[in-house]
Amino acid sequence: MADILQNVMDHAVAVARKAGEVRHPYKDPRWFIGEESVAAGEPSILTDDPTWIIDPIDGTTNFVHAFPFVAISIGFTINKRVEVGVVYSCLEDKMFTARRGGGAFCNGEPLQVSDQTDVHRSIIATEFGSNRDPEVVDKIFSSLRNILSLPVHGVRGAGTAAVNLSLVASGCVEAYYEMGMHVWDIAAGSLLVLEAGGIVMDVDGGDADLMSRRILAANNRSVALRLVEQIAPYRPDRDDAP
Ligand code: IPD
Repeated sequence: MADILQNVMDHAVAVARKAGEVRHPYKDPRWFIGEESVAAGEPSILTDDPTWIIDPIDGTTNFVHAFPFVAISIGFTINKRVEVGVVYSCLEDKMFTARRGGGAFCNGEPLQVSDQTDVHRSIIATEFGSNRDPEVVDKIFSSLRNILSLPVHGVRGAGTAAVNLSLVASGCVEAYYEMGMHVWDIAAGSLLVLEAGGIVMDVDGGDADLMSRRILAANNRSVALRLVEQIAPYRPDRDDAP
């Protein structure tokens, strides 16, 4: 397991060096966006520089309640594009890794998204989030009602965005969408989905935007677009909002 992680991290360093950077990407504080550093007042601006995007505990509420899904999420971007993603689902002891163009793996075994094209035969993952603003809660339930009524086989949520994305990459669920999570929750997992053959977009069907706090990740475009029709979108403040 340590070998897999070391390989992926070495690859990230090699990519950074190839991009012309001579500084060591493990050490420069400007190259980090992390839940804890942002909470401590550090900026959350994604630049073209090599950047580590880190969530040491994704699924904090789960962790507090001993609900057994908690993950460590580490993404590495260059030119605002995720090049390397690592999600460690701690209690499942599953190490998910992906390199851009190099595939996605769980404990070293290749991952492939589900081949289901019919949304009616799909399981969709989502989260309720922590925003209790009545308008936001209405939108969350409106989306949920529409999706349940399609109907779909089921709706699930692991309580961690990183694990939800690993479930899409593993083919256990067909799609995951959420509004309100942060870039550190999804940077690594979004590459897992892409490298397992899936797609990642905005909840309105537009291009994915890592800092927008909105994501729709799916096994294929047909399932994704059926969900876009059902989701009542709202715009949380962006992660890079001044
Ligand atoms: C949270 C989890 C959760 C999602 C929230 C995130 P955290 O991350 O990913 O599944 O619904 O939007 O903020 O706070 O546990 O790192």
